Amino acid sequence: MAKEPVRVLVTGAAGQIGYALVPMIARGVMLGSDQPIILHMLDIEPATEALNGVKMELVDAAFPLLMDVVATTDAMVACKGVNIAVMVGGFPRKEGMERKDVMSKNVSIYKAQASALEKQAAPDCKVLVVANPANTNALILKEFAPSIPEKNITCLTRLDHNRALGQLSERLKIHVGQVKNVIIWGNHSSTQYPDVNHATVTPTNSEEKPVRSVVADDNWLNTEFITTVQQRGAAIIKARKLSSALSAASAACDHIRDWLHVIKDNGQLFRVRLKIDDFSREKMDATAKELVEEKTLAYSCLN
Ligand code: NAD
Ligand code: LMR
Repeated sequence: MAKEPVRVLVTGAAGQIGYALVPMIARGVMLGSDQPIILHMLDIEPATEALNGVKMELVDAAFPLLMDVVATTDAMVACKGVNIAVMVGGFPRKEGMERKDVMSKNVSIYKAQASALEKQAAPDCKVLVVANPANTNALILKEFAPSIPEKNITCLTRLDHNRALGQLSERLKIHVGQVKNVIIWGNHSSTQYPDVNHATVTPTNSEEKPVRSVVADDNWLNTEFITTVQQRGAAIIKARKLSSALSAASAACDHIRDWLHVIKDNGQLFRVRLKIDDFSREKMDATAKELVEEKTLAYSCLN
C-alpha cells in the first residue's frame, strides 16, 4: 500500500538553496524513493513571482512522488500541518562578512516563524535551520516555539561534516565513504572544530584504522585541515560570489535522511562517551564561548 504523503516545508524556497533543494526533496533524496511528498514553499512578497516560477518548474518536472505544492508568502499557511520544516529563508552573508553579521536581519525572522510553526505544524514536526547564523537562529526558534520538543529542533552543520570528509578523501586519495566518525563541534562558523580523533578510514583492501595513523601528519590535521573546513564557506563565496547552494541543499537532505532513517526509533538522539584531549578541549571551549556571545547579541537584536 502507498505511504501517506509527508508535508515538507522549505522557507526561502525562491532563493538559491531553495532552488537546489526542492527538486532533491521531490525526487526522494531526503525521504526515500517510496515516500510521497507534499511540498510547502514559503518566501516573502517581493519574491512572489520567482516562487511561482519554481512551482511551475516543479509541475513541469512531473516528479512521481510529488503529490501537491503549496507556494505562499503567508507563514501561517506555509506551516500548516508540516511534518518537516527546512528553514532556509533569510539573508546570506557576502564576501568579507562573518556569518554573525547577518544576525540582526535573520534572528527576527526566526522569532516570527517560530510562532507560525508552533501554531500550525504537526505535533512531532522536525525542524532543520539552515539560514545563518544557523545555531543561533535554531536557538531563537526553540525559545519562541516552546511546544515543539527541543530534540526536534536542529541546525545544519552536516555541510561542515561533509566538507571534512571531502578534505580527508582528497588528501588520502580515497572515497568519502571510506571515512567515518568525523565530528564537528560547536558553531557553524569559523570557530567550529572539525575533530578527527575518533575518526577512522578503511583503506582499499585493508582493515579500519584511525585517521591520524593513516594521514600520519598531525601538523596538517591540527592546522591546515581545520582551517580549510572552517573557512570553506568563505572560499565558496569568494569563488562563486554567492554562498554555497548545491552542497548546502545536499547536506540538508543528508541531515534529515540520517536523522529519520539511520538513527533508530524515529530520530531519538543518543549519547556516546568520548575521551577529549586538551587540544580538543581548547577548541571546543572557544566555539562554545562564541555561541554564548552570539546568544547575547541575538537577544540584543530582538529587543
Ligand atoms: P538567497 O538569498 O538566495 O535565498 C534566501 C531566500 O530567503 C530568498 O528567496 C529570500 O526572499 C527569502 N527570505 C528572506 N526573508 C524571508 C522570510 N522572512 N521568510 C521566508 N523567506 C525569506 O540565500 P541562500 O543562498 O539560499 O541562503 C539562505 C541562507 O542559508 C543564508 O542565511 C545562508 O547564509 C545560509 N546557508 C547556510 C548554510 C549552512 O551550512 N548552515 C549553508 C549555505 C547557506
Ligand atoms: C556555508 O558554510 O557555505 C554557508 O554557511 C554560507 C556562508 O556564509 O559561509
